[in-house]
Amino acid sequence: MQRVLGIETSCDETAAAVVDLEGNVLGETVHSQIELHARIGGIVPELAARDHARNIDAVVRRALDLAEVALDDVDAIAVTARPGLVGALLVGVEFAKGLSLGSGKPLIEVDHLIGHILAIHLRRSGPGASLVHQTPVFPFLSLLVSGGHTGIYRVEGPRAEDIVELGATRDDAAGEAFDKVGKALGLGYPGGPVIDRLAKTGDASRFPFASPMPSKKSAEFSFSGLKTQVMRFLESHGPLSETELADVCASFQKAVVDVLTSKLVAAAEREDVTRIAIGGGVAANRELRERITDLGVKKGLTVILPELASATDNAAMIAYAGALGFSRGECASLDLDPSTETSIAAQTRKGRGQRG
Ligand SMILES: Nc1ncnc2c1ncn2[C@@H]1O[C@H](COP(=O)(O)OP(=O)(O)OP(=O)(O)O)[C@@H](O)[C@H]1O
Ligand SMILES: [Mg+2]
Repeated sequence: MQRVLGIETSCDETAAAVVDLEGNVLGETVHSQIELHARIGGIVPELAARDHARNIDAVVRRALDLAEVALDDVDAIAVTARPGLVGALLVGVEFAKGLSLGSGKPLIEVDHLIGHILAIHLRRSGPGASLVHQTPVFPFLSLLVSGGHTGIYRVEGPRAEDIVELGATRDDAAGEAFDKVGKALGLGYPGGPVIDRLAKTGDASRFPFASPMPSKKSAEFSFSGLKTQVMRFLESHGPLSETELADVCASFQKAVVDVLTSKLVAAAEREDVTRIAIGGGVAANRELRERITDLGVKKGLTVILPELASATDNAAMIAYAGALGFSRGECASLDLDPSTETSIAAQTRKGRGQRG
């Protein structure tokens, strides 16, 4: 059995995992820095890098222990090399280089966004294991919704060259909008999971925020105007009761989910693709998961959801994308340098829409 060790340090999670070529997660661990950054209300790059450096060794050892393997038993070492915070990425990349050099195992570089897109292939056993997993078949459309990225991709295969961005956000990412609205509502960082929880009891029709860039003809998104709508509303409204807070969360979340689901399904129809998937931290959102499943099924599409642990940042998705790279014979050199940019070609320019 071929096994790959994956290492992820692109943002505020120090994570490691051992995964096989079929996507079975043999052992994984995620050390979150949320508490560290929550005190300040957002991610501080230098603190993130220092915290990765403090924890990476223990995190990697723990993942190997949980998988009940030694470094000698893995076939390759995969690491997130892009996109992300450079200082944070450097910690993982340099650590992985050291492991590769010391063990003689090949080093595989992974694009974090491709990790998110392919995370639907991962399976975990035991309680909490997903029942919605389906073996993916290319092509599929992926809605990637994370803290730093939001877009719809046509995925013909697992390499960057096989992935076409059909449209992305012109400004904020969906997760960023959740976090900024969460902060304005006094819900701390990150806002996404809290808004998701509060929205459950809220009335989504109470405050009808307009869905941003609603035209289904375009796969581009914009979330900064929606964030401003919520902020203006809060300024004019004054302190919210508990019920009103839940209603604002439900109304905001509905506006986001409306635009994400309708554009993904419209893009699938336009592209004549019958399989749709979601990925990234916001793919853990309960309403998004339910509504994309309902709408997809209604339109005769196969809907593929990642397990909850595969949606937010994790190293299993990096190990899996790395395992596919390893099986193609890829091997990075020891002068591998991290980058802030994804390797997937961009169509949408932030702030300016489609590239001309
Ligand atoms: N249940 C949820 N509902 C809505 N948003 C959520 C939920 N859970 C997590 N998020 C959001 O997901 C984001 C984190 O996702 P992820 O870890 O994939 O992002 P990232 O790695 O920081 O960004 P990127 O992957 O673009 O580099 C945060 O913005 C968080 O608020
Ligand atoms: Mg991520």
